[in-house]
Amino acid sequence: MKNILVTGGAGFIGSNFVIHMLDKYADYNIVVYDKLTYAGNLDNLLGVQNNPRYSFVRGDICDAQMVKDTCQEHDIDTIVNFAAETHVDRSIMDPDAFVKTSVYGTYVLLEATRELGLERFHQISTDEVYGHIPAGYSSKEGDPLEPRSPYAASKASADLMVNAYFVTYGLPVTITRGSNNIGPYQYPEKVVPLFATNAIDEEPLPVYGDGRQMREYQYVVDHCEAIDVVLHKGVLGEAYNIGTGEEMENMTMVEILLDAMQMPRDLIRHVADRPGHDRRYSLNIGKIKALGWQPRHTAEEAIIKTVHWYKDNEWWWRKIKSGEFKAYYQAQYGERLADAE
Ligand code: NAD
Ligand code: TYD
Repeated sequence: MKNILVTGGAGFIGSNFVIHMLDKYADYNIVVYDKLTYAGNLDNLLGVQNNPRYSFVRGDICDAQMVKDTCQEHDIDTIVNFAAETHVDRSIMDPDAFVKTSVYGTYVLLEATRELGLERFHQISTDEVYGHIPAGYSSKEGDPLEPRSPYAASKASADLMVNAYFVTYGLPVTITRGSNNIGPYQYPEKVVPLFATNAIDEEPLPVYGDGRQMREYQYVVDHCEAIDVVLHKGVLGEAYNIGTGEEMENMTMVEILLDAMQMPRDLIRHVADRPGHDRRYSLNIGKIKALGWQPRHTAEEAIIKTVHWYKDNEWWWRKIKSGEFKAYYQAQYGERLADAE
């Protein structure tokens, strides 16, 4: 592994991964290949833009010719695929791009890996592919995939295609399934950055339903370190869950967030729930721990660190919130918040 194509590398987790890898491995070259959708943001990569081992190509993973040309031009040996449409609420509003990018796009990348004989294809997946998990159980990698949102279904489809390429063509693949990431550069449609930036502006925090849904909030850099471990020590054809093993109700997350910001609880508004909202995700992380990795932040530490980053980096999120985000926010929350009052 020397020349890595990071697809979706201008997004939240991808950019954190690029920063981590360039910093840790002095002899790796990284090419970010990204369509720059509303969620892609070159501001995330400002810190590495002058690094001679980094380059950027604007492209769509559905464009087979461009993917192959880019791989050949940069002598790529490894693809790490972060590219996806990633927000569940947007997938409920309009699933089209989710299917195109995660299903067809992942297939295009697998074909390029096969045709060019690359060393490795790594797929970034999610705990949402397992669906709602009843209390008392934590998902294991061999469990059936039972996705329930268009987003989760698009990601599960990609996992199945990756597995099919391993079984059918012996492609050197691995998959990681991460829980909810939080940290620097997360687009403020996701709950923690949305709530942190709303709280800074003393705007209401729209909690879906009773807020008793459970998520495993993990710090994004911990997730990136685990992906790195799987790239170097993972067994081909295997999937690895990455989380904290620590589940938390959304209401607890909101209270930690508001307390860290010294903002009052009366900013909380319970609004109409998300259709098909998965109540609980929980990951068994024994398999990745056996490779020698463990998370360095608890969920509470991750929330507090994230909130401080948003407080200190208004330059990054203010321009996002004043752009296309406004129309999205109105469509997603306008009626909900009006009804909550
Ligand atoms: P993000 O929305 O912040 O970034 C996605 C990136 O992909 C953007 O830069 C976007 O421009 C790019 N992209 C989208 N469609 C593309 C296409 N067709 N071709 C090329 N680039 C394209 O997402 P994120 O939160 O960083 O998530 C990254 C990956 O991690 C996704 O695959 C997601 O499913 C997975 N994941 C996310 C979380 C989470 O909590 N955010 C948890 C587990 C797994
Ligand atoms: P989100 O960040 O969208 O991640 P995911 O749905 O992929 O887990 O949401 C995390 C949790 O927060 C989820 O249970 C839905 C809830 N949520 C709200 O209560 N209000 C919101 O405005 C958003 C965006 C999410």
